[in-house]
Amino acid sequence: MSATKTSLPRLTAADVLNNLTALRRRQPVKYAAFYSSQLGGIVTDPALMVIPFDDHMVHRGHGIFDTASLVDHKIYDLDAHLDRFIASAQRSKLKLPGTRAQMREIIVGTAALSGRSDGSIRYWLSSGPGSLELSPAASAEPGFFVMIFAGLSYPERWYTDGLKVMTTTYPIKPSLYAITKSTNYLPNVLMQMEAKEAGVDNGVFIDAGGNVGESSNMNVAFVTRDGVFRHPKFDHILSGCTSKRLLELAPTLVSRGLITGVEVCDIPVAEARGAREMMLIGSSIKVAPIVEWDKQPIHDGKPGPVSRALLELLEADMRRGAGRLDQL
Ligand SMILES: Cc1ncc(COP(=O)(O)O)c(C=O)c1O
Repeated sequence: MSATKTSLPRLTAADVLNNLTALRRRQPVKYAAFYSSQLGGIVTDPALMVIPFDDHMVHRGHGIFDTASLVDHKIYDLDAHLDRFIASAQRSKLKLPGTRAQMREIIVGTAALSGRSDGSIRYWLSSGPGSLELSPAASAEPGFFVMIFAGLSYPERWYTDGLKVMTTTYPIKPSLYAITKSTNYLPNVLMQMEAKEAGVDNGVFIDAGGNVGESSNMNVAFVTRDGVFRHPKFDHILSGCTSKRLLELAPTLVSRGLITGVEVCDIPVAEARGAREMMLIGSSIKVAPIVEWDKQPIHDGKPGPVSRALLELLEADMRRGAGRLDQL
């Protein structure tokens, strides 16, 4: 018989709550409100924003998520994000916690209760807790979580001076996983860490055919020498809601003489390196110019006019886009 004794404390529920509160005091976070189907409602104390350790999303990465923006008391393009969320759930064999309308109502309600006017709304679907098996527990009920937070913040110089990127040494995800917004972001995380370690701002995935893929949590697009706004096909990268919307808005730049056309196609790296402009696009970054890729300047190494114009089109749409705004 082992006589090993531990000096580790055995905690009561009150101790746990105190310790969670102390943790959040040491590590302040800008989380304004959290809905959890498991808790059965919304909490605003970050110490209570928790998920059970045996939730399949936590220990096996069997979960999906999406992020929409909150701008001036309005949620932007929630339906596009919900479409992608539901498609990701189906591909991941995840049961929805209710109807689309019910999920929508929970997202809008949590945002309204947070009291925030601007920020981000991230929501997750998990297959739920109940075992540590590889398959979801037989008794598992889907978990639905919504977090309202201050949003990711990027340096102002990314917009004024432009970003530097590198081709990542990490392989791009196989198409099924790249088009599914699952919580398995290991390649994306490693790519971003690698870029930071190399002293640049982000990385770019290249596919097996030598075509441009995407960045860590953003899409990549170009303006060719002859002025075409060109975006990689969405069959092997995430279908970015921001990119999709910008592809609809961009034709107005043709009439303004800023671009000559809009194209979604495979973009060989060699061709992409000769672009007039290169940019990152996404809900968090919006549109930011890339001025250097693998230590080589893009065109004259300065932010270009099309990136700027696309950012302005997007910002206007985020404030006034008819049929795309949920007023809180
Ligand atoms: C891998 C990846 N690509 C692209 C995007 C851009 O998508 P969106 O414009 O919907 O934010 C994201 C962000 O969600 C992402 O995580």
